[in-house]
Amino acid sequence: MYHIKTLNKIAPVGLSQLPKEGYAVSDGEEHPDGILVRSADMLNYEFPESLRAIARAGAGTNNIPIDRCSEAGIVVFNTPGANANAVKELAVCALLLSARKIAAGSKWVNAQAADGVDVTTVVEKGKSQFVGPELMGKTLGVVGLGAIGVQVANIATKLGMKVIGHDPFLSVHSALSLSRMVHVTADLNEVYQSADYITIHVPQNKDTKGMVNAAAIAKMKDGVRLVNMARGGLVDEGAVIDALKSGKVASYVTDFPTNALMAAPNVTALPHLGASTPESEDNCAVMAAQELRDYLENGNIVNSVNLPAVELPWSGAARVCVIHRNIPNLLAAITGLLGKDNVNVANLTNKSKGEYAYTIVDTDQAVTDAVADELAKVEGVLRVRVLNH
Ligand SMILES: NC(=O)c1ccc[n+]([C@@H]2O[C@H](COP(=O)([O-])OP(=O)(O)OC[C@H]3O[C@@H](n4cnc5c(N)ncnc54)[C@H](O)[C@@H]3O)[C@@H](O)[C@H]2O)c1
Repeated sequence: MYHIKTLNKIAPVGLSQLPKEGYAVSDGEEHPDGILVRSADMLNYEFPESLRAIARAGAGTNNIPIDRCSEAGIVVFNTPGANANAVKELAVCALLLSARKIAAGSKWVNAQAADGVDVTTVVEKGKSQFVGPELMGKTLGVVGLGAIGVQVANIATKLGMKVIGHDPFLSVHSALSLSRMVHVTADLNEVYQSADYITIHVPQNKDTKGMVNAAAIAKMKDGVRLVNMARGGLVDEGAVIDALKSGKVASYVTDFPTNALMAAPNVTALPHLGASTPESEDNCAVMAAQELRDYLENGNIVNSVNLPAVELPWSGAARVCVIHRNIPNLLAAITGLLGKDNVNVANLTNKSKGEYAYTIVDTDQAVTDAVADELAKVEGVLRVRVLNH
């Protein structure tokens, strides 16, 4: 029986991935094998010895002390892409908001009604101030072609837009998912120079922070429309406000409002609604529970932020899973100890991620507790688990 502690309310459809006959799931588990968490702050959490994995139902993991987890041999999972459809749909809405004066028009109708005006008498005359262009035939630049960017690029082609995308680290998965209609360029300047609309879908990190700055904006077309459903800090706020005031940027739609932005012209801001859909919460919960289960039952690691992705189909009598430092001679030490006990290696896989590595060894014979204990004592080994098929 595996014990799973929930630190937040996890969507029932996610918990249903953990069958009752094999899993005890509650917020009161004292010796959990795994933790399911959404946004609970775990930074000062004391890890019980039993804990092997934490699955975060969501993408960001800044509520989890990743380095401490790695040192304790605890795998941390997240759920990239589980909210991609929700963000894609809002990005399409944002493109329309950036083009047509929908938000301003709606606000005006509300204001008329609040003033006691019979709105039916003013709509036809008033609408001329809210004219805005169509998307069809315009060029959309998509910066960042990951889970969200690919979906935005693909759907934009269906809206009749020409789409140009840029991602210096384009994954094979993204490349295969991308519509053939999307032109991919290695040169970000080409996006800036050709796009009527630009939408960004990159993570905020030290390389991308402030990437949409005055120099980048200067390369863009006059009257470009910007959409930012990714992170506020990707855009240099002062530069975009100046560009909105001068008309260089015709409109800015963002999920990350600030007071300074709200004082600038042609800004439409949403209160970080990108992933706020019930479907997205369900998708995250299902993915987190499945990742946890696959690790606990099979030792497979998919979508971990601190350990490499490693999957191995079962091929032996037992499986030894070792989390260890990424240092020389560890593989030899593991197989050497197994060999000393006459345990034959049926299959083996090993991958590293930064300072840490993970090895799965399938063996033709059972692995005794004594051998597992010896493995755990090897210099650089952080966690050993033996699973039986
Ligand atoms: N508004 C919201 O509620 C909301 C919800 C989910 C995600 N997000 C944001 O959207 C971002 C993208 O999410 P995702 O699921 O598509 O992530 P992802 O990891 O699948 O994709 C990010 C892509 O950006 C690319 N990239 C990294 N640096 C780049 C650079 N300098 N130039 C161009 N491309 C670069 C990566 O190669 C990757 O393909 C997240 O990092 C998050 O900040 C916002």
